[in-house]
Amino acid sequence: MKADLGYIILAAGKGTRMHSESPKVLQRVLGKPLLGYVYAALEQTPAVRIWTVIGFQAEDVRALFPDQQFIYQAEQLGTGHAVLRAWPHILKSGLAYVCVLNGDTPHVPVEEISRLTTLCQEKDASMGVLTLTLDNPHGYGRIRRDHSGKVEAIVEEKDFCLLGQEEIHEVNSGVYVFNVHRCAPLLTRINQGNTQQEFYLTQMVALCAQAGFGVATLPCVDDGLLRGVNSPQELVGLEETLRGVRVVELLRSGVLLRRPESIVIGPDVHIAPGADIAGPCEIYGQSYIEAGACIDSHCWIKDSSLGPCQVKSFSHIEGARIHGGACVGPYARLRPGSDIGVHARVGNFVEVKNSVFHEGAKAGHLSYLGDSEIGADVNIGAGTITCNYDGERKHQTRIQPGAFIGSNTALVAPVVVGRGALVAAGSVITKDVPEESLAVARARQVNLPRKRTKKKQL
Ligand code: UD1
Ligand code: CA
Repeated sequence: MKADLGYIILAAGKGTRMHSESPKVLQRVLGKPLLGYVYAALEQTPAVRIWTVIGFQAEDVRALFPDQQFIYQAEQLGTGHAVLRAWPHILKSGLAYVCVLNGDTPHVPVEEISRLTTLCQEKDASMGVLTLTLDNPHGYGRIRRDHSGKVEAIVEEKDFCLLGQEEIHEVNSGVYVFNVHRCAPLLTRINQGNTQQEFYLTQMVALCAQAGFGVATLPCVDDGLLRGVNSPQELVGLEETLRGVRVVELLRSGVLLRRPESIVIGPDVHIAPGADIAGPCEIYGQSYIEAGACIDSHCWIKDSSLGPCQVKSFSHIEGARIHGGACVGPYARLRPGSDIGVHARVGNFVEVKNSVFHEGAKAGHLSYLGDSEIGADVNIGAGTITCNYDGERKHQTRIQPGAFIGSNTALVAPVVVGRGALVAAGSVITKDVPEESLAVARARQVNLPRKRTKKKQL
């Protein structure tokens, strides 16, 4: 019989070893916060309920995950203390088993957790631990067993070092299953009798063993994914592991990744087989890349959707949509709300924000187009700027189909350039331009005789 399983995620710690002002569980790996990985994995399971213990900069964590249920641990006195804070909610829920996870470990081995729960039931064990066997167990709680192989205790790194014993390579992964009924009275007996004077959750192993209750263990394969992130070095190590896994998956699925060793793809990016991407290149967030999209090297893309378009090198694209047949870059910057239509073109050193380019519209060089609508087949000359901000509010610029904007034009919004209109180069357009008309808004050129001193005369 499968037991109902709840989850407690421990995420209150500051993560001192990260030397960062933000909570460790919000540190990003491939652009996604560590805690986001845990939730994503649990979404795949029939998890009954999830409680997350937060403390350090709790408001930042709440803001990022508004749908989750949080428990506040004001002082971070240790992992045992954190679980105790959550315990009243567990008791109230009536769940028979609860799984405790460290929020700093993005990989959640859901299958092993399920097997460990079954093992606890079958063996009538009061708790279970997923273990790893590491060549270098430094930093992890060591699993100490008696002569018969029965688990006696988990000894934390700092306490273990003091003992000067022979090295133990079997360690605690930080994933546990507890029998709620059995463990309830023992949890309150966790004390601070250790080098760090913290309430270690891992003391539960010794408490269970001493009370004569069994402790089940299940070994997990160490593929580098089940390791917690405690330091910048561990973070980049894990990031590199996950990056490699993702790139291989995509290549196998039929995505062409050139120089894959320099391509970084976030976990929530969808790329269809038939896309062609050259490294170095980074793609993050909720991005969708369709078959036929071709992305040259040195591009950075986040939260964007790309049809079968071409993105040339050194383009920076965020919150944008690029339709099929469009061409962007090199050196283009698309900011949130950019929608680049079919066969449209955004060339070098063009910045686009909150603007729609309709079919075949072009801005080839050196422009800023913000809060604007660029009609079909409009041509934007080099150096054109939408003056969309008056210091207080943003205003719209609308350029209707077939209009031609001469180079170095300033379009002072709000303003509309009519269908088929022509704006002379160097104009400062402050009034609407009617359809099919020519607008010239610049000082007339005056040619005067050149004055020279005698000496310099030719
Ligand atoms: C912990 C285990 C160790 C195990 C390792 C696996 C303990 C005492 N040690 O060590 O045996 O090998 O994980 O990665 O549990 N947290 C709170 N409140 C607190 C303290 C910590 O919520 O008061 C959270 C942290 O935010 C973190 C998690 O608990 O997400 C683990 O804490 P951390 O300090 O990283 O423990 P480790 O030293 O890695
Ligand atoms: Ca840790």
